[in-house]
Amino acid sequence: MIATILDTIGHTPLIRIPNTNKANEGQVLLKYERYNPGGSIKDRAAIYIVEEAERRGLLKPGGAIIESSSGNFGISLAMIGAAKGYRVIILVDPKTTSANLALLKGFGAEVIVVTEQDDSGSYHKTRISLANKLAREIENSYRPDQCFNLLNSEAHYNSTAREIVDSCSNKIAAFVTAVSTGGQLGGISKYLKRVAPNVQIIGVDAVGSAIFGGRSDSYRIPGIGLSWTPLNLNMEYVDCAYKITDEQAFLAARAFARHEGILMGPSSGACALVALKMAQELAPDQCIVCMVSDGGERYIPTLFNDEWMEEQGFAAAADIASIRAMARQLQPWSTHPADSVNERLDLIQSLEVPDSTLRMNEEVLAREHSNSERSITID
Ligand SMILES: Cc1ncc(COP(=O)(O)O)c(C=O)c1O
Repeated sequence: MIATILDTIGHTPLIRIPNTNKANEGQVLLKYERYNPGGSIKDRAAIYIVEEAERRGLLKPGGAIIESSSGNFGISLAMIGAAKGYRVIILVDPKTTSANLALLKGFGAEVIVVTEQDDSGSYHKTRISLANKLAREIENSYRPDQCFNLLNSEAHYNSTAREIVDSCSNKIAAFVTAVSTGGQLGGISKYLKRVAPNVQIIGVDAVGSAIFGGRSDSYRIPGIGLSWTPLNLNMEYVDCAYKITDEQAFLAARAFARHEGILMGPSSGACALVALKMAQELAPDQCIVCMVSDGGERYIPTLFNDEWMEEQGFAAAADIASIRAMARQLQPWSTHPADSVNERLDLIQSLEVPDSTLRMNEEVLAREHSNSERSITID
């Protein structure tokens, strides 16, 4: 079949890390999302939401897509907008890397840098509320609203989770992924708990983020974290949560490039470290599926810049033995994440979440309800 660029989203490979992961322990399988055409897992939710909006007439030819994103989701929308002919406006913040800004602009998106911090010291709330305001002001515009739109997790329930189960359902002992909007963890955990209830579901967040409780503080890991528990994440499906420091995440991502030849961003370095911890506690016939949300090229000015690492006070490199030891020493932040849910439903009003999102959510919840009454059979 001759495909368009958008037909190449998804169906990413599972890859091993044989130099770091020993043969006599659980086997880590990285779901390598860098191979999506926009370079990250966010292509999946972006195309799913855009095409649903088109089907419902919420996004019409010549329309504008407006979104708050510090990088990957915005890049996915910009790519899709370029391919489908939409105007795309992305609200980023000062943490957005120069590479991401260049990519957004390369795909023709208009970029607004939001510099006002919210009450947690991050930019999530100020970005979202400005995006909602613009969507009310700009005619023929659509807000995908990755943070509050439940289509985000539904996208992963219907694509990423099914791919994982189709590849290795009978061997998965644990599933590890990072969290921000909760799209990945929310959608994949829901599917896995239905078809393989014994799989341990592990969420990975940044020290400084409050998704799994605790105090908000600043952190450097791009793409993850939030100062509340996102709507897309149902904590009932999450068995355990880890919080990883900036230095651990950056060092791990550098180590997997150096010792496995695998490029990944810092959020994925954090996840791979947790996966390696699980591996050291499991048997060789048990798999740990670990999401690698994007590649490392986006972070060249930071992650692969020795001077930047030194400026942060981070070590420059870690060999395989130290990465394994660092992984082994990790301790869960919570083994009952459902006890520390901080959903903040008040934000729906205070950030003026669009009606289109709330109406869509009612439909997603109704679909979910009817799905839960049907059994899923797998080979
Ligand atoms: C690099 C990276 N890792 C992890 C995540 C978290 O994914 P989600 O928003 O689906 O929770 C994101 C989200 O932006 C990301 O960009």
